[in-house]
Amino acid sequence: MSEFAKLTLPSGKEIQLAIKKASIGQDVIDISSFFKESGMFTFDPGFLSTASCESKITYIDGDKGILSHGGYSIEDLAKKAEYLEVAYLLLNHDLPSGEQYKNFVDNIKNNMLVHEQISVLYRGFPRKAHPMAIMVGAVASLSAFYHESMDINSSEGRLDVVYKIIAKMPTLAAMAYKYSIGEPIIYPKHDLGFAENFLHMLFAKPTAQYKVSPTIARAMEMIFVLHADHEQNASTSTVRLAGSSGANPFACIGAGISSLWGPAHGGANEEVIEMLQEIRTSQRIPEYIARAKDKNDPFRLMGFGHRVYKNYDPRASVLKKACDEVLSELGIKDPLLDIAVELEKIALNDEYFVSRKLFPNVDFYSGIIYKALGIPTNLFTVIFAIARSAGWIAQWKEMIEDPAFKIGRPRQLYTGNTIRDYIKIENR
Ligand SMILES: CC(C)(COP(=O)(O)OP(=O)(O)OC[C@H]1O[C@@H](n2cnc3c(N)ncnc32)[C@H](O)[C@@H]1OP(=O)(O)O)[C@@H](O)C(=O)NCCC(=O)NCCS
Repeated sequence: MSEFAKLTLPSGKEIQLAIKKASIGQDVIDISSFFKESGMFTFDPGFLSTASCESKITYIDGDKGILSHGGYSIEDLAKKAEYLEVAYLLLNHDLPSGEQYKNFVDNIKNNMLVHEQISVLYRGFPRKAHPMAIMVGAVASLSAFYHESMDINSSEGRLDVVYKIIAKMPTLAAMAYKYSIGEPIIYPKHDLGFAENFLHMLFAKPTAQYKVSPTIARAMEMIFVLHADHEQNASTSTVRLAGSSGANPFACIGAGISSLWGPAHGGANEEVIEMLQEIRTSQRIPEYIARAKDKNDPFRLMGFGHRVYKNYDPRASVLKKACDEVLSELGIKDPLLDIAVELEKIALNDEYFVSRKLFPNVDFYSGIIYKALGIPTNLFTVIFAIARSAGWIAQWKEMIEDPAFKIGRPRQLYTGNTIRDYIKIENR
């Protein structure tokens, strides 16, 4: 039986709006015909109450702190799955069989090289450029290499885009790093795992053999899994909106990278480490907590709070545990971890944070692991972007393949001047 919500307009007219059922989680009120029936728009800046699409990829229960892809919990996937298995899951809503996985991985491996001309593009950037700035340009520039040959209207053509995006992101990211330190580019290698290959491209030099530590490769693989998708966040919604016009998907991923870079989104991981380094000793924590609570101070506790999670971000729990394990396996004692744990304890017992349900998010502990793995601070958000490429392209593909999909076109509440006559400049 269909369910409806009823709404009475100021004119007294009653409108029935159909309820659409979720498989789990929140049902939605379908307002797509609301404007036609009422002549009014709905108003929801920041999408606090608006579902922008239907999706089968990722489920989040923010109150309970649950995140799952295709029905598999993030804790399970982080512990047991490889990143490319999760990428396959996001794209197909099912884990691959052995043969499907081999085929998928082969297709990714065959696309890891980038056109040699791209290294010329890199030389135009200042050496000191932030690697996220280079990534925005480099990934979008793939659209110049694959435009005429690309066919997003066929399933083979869309899969070709998927393989190219997932495969080339680590190569482009490692190239940005090598360029910034003036070292020769290291090409991808087919015999290495996905995370291992990225670490090899980052740290190997042509002059010597380089073996990636299995502990570091495993931790990086897990970090990639944890960041692979997070439903309709700002960068993913950016990719969907840009792609909804039928734009070149490589350019759309460039737009997603731009959105991810902001400190309220993926850029927070870099800022957490900078904040912990600034705090330096646990004696200074109360001062920073007080600043975070002061409405006249723009400072926020970085790595705390989330639009959806009103509980512990499940990715932060996995990362906190992994942080302990990785640091102990590598024999590293990082005082920043002690400050982070202490800061978390104090914040979680403070009325300001408790009443606003502000908990550590994925970015709170990730920087400490990156630091232990030898990753430079300005690459933290780039790693997030590599991992999120699977989610972005899966969401783009889901949208393009949805027969009901339309160009995204939000409306507005106009509060500017009413219509008036133009006045010549000399008369103003
Ligand atoms: C993630 C974030 C942007 C979510 O924002 P949001 O859903 O729009 O939530 P709001 O900005 O409305 O915050 C709600 C309240 O909590 C406060 N708040 C949210 N995050 C806070 C933080 N990190 N430190 C201090 N106060 C914070 C806000 O000031 C606001 O208080 P008020 O109700 O008294 O005005 C926000 O929590 C934030 O800026 N966190 C720090 C950056 C970060 O870690 N980003 C990574 C996200 S994965």
